[in-house]
Parts: sequence; C-alpha cells; structure tokens
Amino acid sequence: MSERPYVIDQMISAKSIAARIEDLSAEIEREYEGTDKLVVVGLLRGSFVFIADLVRELDLPVEVDFLEASSYGNAMESSREVRILKDLRGEIEGRDVLVVEDIVDTGHTLTHVMHLLTARNPAKIKTIALLDKPSRREADIAADWIGFSIPDEFVVGYGIDFAQRNRNLPFIGKVRFTE
Ligand code: IMP
Ligand code: MG
Repeated sequence: MSERPYVIDQMISAKSIAARIEDLSAEIEREYEGTDKLVVVGLLRGSFVFIADLVRELDLPVEVDFLEASSYGNAMESSREVRILKDLRGEIEGRDVLVVEDIVDTGHTLTHVMHLLTARNPAKIKTIALLDKPSRREADIAADWIGFSIPDEFVVGYGIDFAQRNRNLPFIGKVRFTE
C-alpha cells in the first residue's frame, strides 16, 4: 500500500499545534494542581512527539512512562482486539495519571488501555489525545482533552505514521493519493 504514490497536504501547522498545547497544558496544570507527581503515560509510538512537547509545557512534577498497544482488525467482525506489546515500567496504584494518545479513531485502543490501567487503581486517571475523529467512533469513549477534532481523513506527521513513514514531519498533514 505504501508503494502507491501520494502527497501530503498540510492540515494543522506546527505553530497551531504549539499554540494548542500551550492552552491544553494550562488546563492540565489546573486539573492536577497540587499533585505529588503526575505520571504521564505515552502510548507508543504515535504519541512520542506530542508527549515530548506536552511535558515541556507542564509546570508540574512529572514522571514519564510508556505503553505500547497494537490493535488489529478481525476480518470476520467489526470489533477489534487490542494487544499490549510493552507495559508500563512503573506502578500507578494511588498515582495521578494522564494517558497521552495521538489519535482517537474507533476508540478501541483507548478503551482497552483505560480498562487495563483503571484496574490498577490509580488515584486519578485522565486522557488527552492530540487528534479526534468522532465520525469514526465505534467504542463509547472520549478523551478528557482533545487537541483538534478532524474529519475522517488519514493523517500523518508530528509522530503519526503511514506505514511507519512521515512521523518526523513537524506538522499534521493528510495523505492524498495521486493515482
Ligand atoms: P483506534 O482508536 O483504536 O481505532 O486506534 C487509534 C490508533 O489508530 C491511533 O493511535 C493511530 O495509531 C491509528 N490511527 C488512526 N487514525 C490514523 C491516521 O489517520 N493516521 C495514522 N494512524 C492512525
Ligand atoms: Mg497509536
């Protein structure tokens, strides 16, 4: 599929992303004011750029951990299974947690991750996603904070890939096939 030629049209500029992260970080600081230590959990790999920019805007005591989940479709059903490929290194029981996702699409990944992490009894757990595609939702879940709500377009950049490429673009762009 990656062999098919395409171009990338910019959808959200690096500047807009930075401005939005400033606003979001102010809201997160208010929400977690007085926290002993916030555990910011990035979902690999797509959130690695977002989490890097987000934590540098947070004026809070922060610890960073990562979780890698992989979702794969089942040809016979519309529902998806999600596997944990890499678990957290640290314990989150009794801790304040913020889960950072790149995109909430069908919502199955975030649903599964929240189920898993909530069972570990954190004191508080909230979610932030850079992008939200509400029209694609299959699971009944919404992130607590959203950077941008976007239409049903396939996007890349700012950590997000198409067949493992384009994660290094500083902006969010949409993939447009040229043939
Ligand atoms: P879902 O919400 O479980 O369907 O899956 C969300 C994950 O699918 C995201 O974390 C991305 O890794 C991937 N994904 C969804 N939409 C896109 C896209 O437009 N471009 C690249 N990856 C995407
Ligand atoms: Mg992802």
